[in-house]
Amino acid sequence: MIPITDPRIEEYLKGLTTEDDPHLLAMEAMAKELTFPFVDRLVGRLLYILTRIRQPRLVVELGSGFGYSAWWFARAISITGKVVMTDHAPENIDYARRMFQENGLFDRLEFRVGDALEIGPQYRDIDILFIDIDKHQYRQAIETMLPCLAKNALVIADNSLWYGKVAEGEDDPETRGIREFNEFMFSRQDFFPTILPLRDGVMLAYRLG
Ligand SMILES: C[S@@+](CC[C@H](N)C(=O)[O-])C[C@H]1O[C@@H](n2cnc3c(N)ncnc32)[C@H](O)[C@@H]1O
Repeated sequence: MIPITDPRIEEYLKGLTTEDDPHLLAMEAMAKELTFPFVDRLVGRLLYILTRIRQPRLVVELGSGFGYSAWWFARAISITGKVVMTDHAPENIDYARRMFQENGLFDRLEFRVGDALEIGPQYRDIDILFIDIDKHQYRQAIETMLPCLAKNALVIADNSLWYGKVAEGEDDPETRGIREFNEFMFSRQDFFPTILPLRDGVMLAYRLG
């Protein structure tokens, strides 16, 4: 495994941030305790900034877990915007529903239980599409969602360097899935993608027109 960011740099970056929202801190503690994969704070802050810049009407998340990444989108989106959460584990969506009821952001969310690849295409004119489902599904996810994207949509995909395995010639289904997704996005004329080597790699792809 190739370290994407030197752990000392990651610690330094994290040390610069102070967050005191009790729901955010509770989710971070829970994710660590359960070793649940989530975007964590540095990528969360990136999602927040991108949302503030893009000012989306509609954000659709494929793979929301219990709502950590959605928390960052929901905090940054305007009160008229909507963040659609999808997850096939009902207990994750239940947790998110309770958490967003308590923190006053509930009206900015839509909570959907089921297969993200079936729920996602029910939406149109998506301004930000966030992909964080099982890694072998990434390529299928973007192909399924292409007709649903708004003009100049932003596609954000977590884990796009997959523990560095994409650069190591590993060929398990997850690594293959991420590699195929990356190559697909970089081969298209209608997207302008880049990958930030932050945490596990974050793809940002701007749809040209
Ligand atoms: C990496 S976690 C998501 C973490 C979340 N985005 C965050 O950072 O807070 C992936 C989640 O996607 C869900 N998942 C994976 N494949 C899915 C699919 N095809 N449809 C719906 N949910 C899926 C899993 O249940 C899991 O909760």
